[in-house]
Amino acid sequence: MALEQRLQRIRVWDLPTRLFHWGLVLAVTVAVLSAKLGGNAMVWHMRAGYCVLALLGFRVLWGVVGGRWSRFSRFVYGPAALWRYLRHQARAGDRFEVGHNPLGALSVLAMLAWLLLQAASGLIADDQIATAGPLVAKVSSATSEVWTAHHTTWGQWGVFGLLGLHIAAILFHRWIKKKDLLGPMLSGDQLLAEPVEPARDAWPQRLLALALLALSGLAVAWLVGAVGSGVGP
Ligand code: HEM
Ligand code: HEM
Repeated sequence: MALEQRLQRIRVWDLPTRLFHWGLVLAVTVAVLSAKLGGNAMVWHMRAGYCVLALLGFRVLWGVVGGRWSRFSRFVYGPAALWRYLRHQARAGDRFEVGHNPLGALSVLAMLAWLLLQAASGLIADDQIATAGPLVAKVSSATSEVWTAHHTTWGQWGVFGLLGLHIAAILFHRWIKKKDLLGPMLSGDQLLAEPVEPARDAWPQRLLALALLALSGLAVAWLVGAVGSGVGP
């Protein structure tokens, strides 16, 4: 109880980062379920895939200009820092307990990169029956075949593997390390013994995030030909 009182509530995940996360959860879930249903549901598969792309584009921009603890510069650690974290040898100035820890950061980067590859390969995937990505005509049939094979084998297995690890890591922290990671991804706040500078999370930042999401969405719409040709995805 005494310790609880000394802990300070610090904003680490700004609202845009949290909405990005739960939006990504929704879009990936719809993409996977609709792909497994197949048939008419493939229309939703492609739409959900475009949402994943737009969200990832937003997250890359937010990783540069977003809230303090959402920036890549804050959570892309070198091997030396990772080693210190794994050996429990943090040195003065290390704040591994705030935001993504060095190991968690690796899994976050792997998830972002693998999902990007999965969605991008979908754009040139073709099931040779009824569903083809919008950019299939832009590549040779050999290239499309290779990436369709990737999309439906290593691509999806990699997504499932990384998501399995993600959930396992969160449960491991909860049950073994007694650290709640989920709470901050819902409320935005972490309880910390030593104060750190919080992420700025007011309306100017949120409006900027909205503009960046719109920009990313427009870029995806342009890429898949929905803007300009007048044909919806
Ligand atoms: C399709 C499913 C999911 C995907 C694609 C996904 C993806 C991600 C990504 C990319 C991040 C990094 C956030 C960022 O810095 O922008 C993240 C963090 C996080 N996710 Fe998920 N996630 C999924 C499901 C879940 C579920 C079901 C939970 C809750 C049990 C969850 C809880 C968290 C938490 C707590 C973090 C922060 C981890 C930390 O403190 O380092 N995620 N997730
Ligand atoms: C991260 C986003 C995505 C995920 C997780 C995902 C996942 C999947 C999965 C699990 C399958 C079914 C594989 C099977 O047969 O079991 C599939 C098939 C397919 N996906 Fe995606 N996909 C994504 C994005 C996209 C996008 C953006 C497009 C195109 C706009 C796309 C186009 C296709 C096509 C055409 C197939 C059928 C391929 C075939 O059966 O040969 N996907 N995807």
